[in-house]
Amino acid sequence: MSTNTVDNNRKVTTRRLVEMKHRGEKISMLTAYDYSSAKIIDEAGMDVILVGDSASNVMAGNTTTLPITLDQMIYHAKSVMKGVKRALVVVDLPFGTYQGNSKEALASAVRIMKESHAEAVKLEGGAEIKESVERILSAGIPVMGHLGLTPQSINKFGTYNVRAKEKEEADKLIADAKLLEEVGCFAIVLEKIPAKLASQVAKQLTIPIIGIGAGGGVDGQVLVMHDMLGINKGFSPRFLRRYADLAGVMTNAVQNYIADVKSGDFPNEKESY
Ligand code: KIV
Repeated sequence: MSTNTVDNNRKVTTRRLVEMKHRGEKISMLTAYDYSSAKIIDEAGMDVILVGDSASNVMAGNTTTLPITLDQMIYHAKSVMKGVKRALVVVDLPFGTYQGNSKEALASAVRIMKESHAEAVKLEGGAEIKESVERILSAGIPVMGHLGLTPQSINKFGTYNVRAKEKEEADKLIADAKLLEEVGCFAIVLEKIPAKLASQVAKQLTIPIIGIGAGGGVDGQVLVMHDMLGINKGFSPRFLRRYADLAGVMTNAVQNYIADVKSGDFPNEKESY
C-alpha cells in the first residue's frame, strides 16, 4: 500500500490543498460519476474527487465532452456527494454554461452548489473566461482552473495532441495561470503540456497545480477513473498508467455467469429459497 501522510478522517478543503502544496505533499485526484465508485475512492483516501465532464465520454459514450448538460452534471454530482465523506468534490461546469456570459456562469455554478452540495467548480480557459471566474468567486464558490489541453475546445484545436509546445502558446499559458491565481482560483489543472512548462508554472504559483499528462514536477495528479482502472481500454495515451484491468475482470465474471446460467449450475440449492 502506498503511503498517505494525510490524516485519513479530516475533511479535505481548498485551504488544506494549498497547505499540502506548501509542505510538499502531493495531491491525489481522480474522477467519479456515481455513488458506489465515489464511496470506494473516498474510503481509499483520495484527496480530491472530480465529477468531470469526461462523464460525457465514459458514462454516456459520446466522442467529446461537449454534449453533456448541466442537469446531467448535477445528477452525477448528487450521486457522488452521497458517497463522499472526506475528499473535496469538484464539479466541471459543462460546455456552453459559462463561456461568454458571466451571469449565466454564476447561475450554472449556483445550481451545481445548491442542488448537488458539491464544494467547488472547475472551468476551462484563461483570460477569455476571467469575468465568469470572478463572478462565481464573488458568490463565495471556489473555482479550479483548467489550462493546456481543454477538451471543451477540441473543435478549435482540431486534435488531442500536446499543447503549448511553442513559445507563444506557452507564454499565454503562463500568463493565464498567473491571472487565474490573481483572481482567486484555489488550484489549476494543467492537461497534456510539456513537463518542463508545467513544473515552471507550479514553481511560479502559490496555488496547487494538478497535472494530467503534465509530468511529475507539479503538485498533484489527476486521472479519469475508467482509464486508470482499465474499464475504458480504447484510450491509451502515453501519460496514462493503468492500475487494473477491470474490463478483463468484468468480462471473465460475466462469461462465467453466462456459462453457469446456460448449464443450469446457477442457482444451486444453497442459492434458492
Ligand atoms: O473531465 C475530466 O475528467 C477532466 C480531467 C481530465 C481533468 O477535466
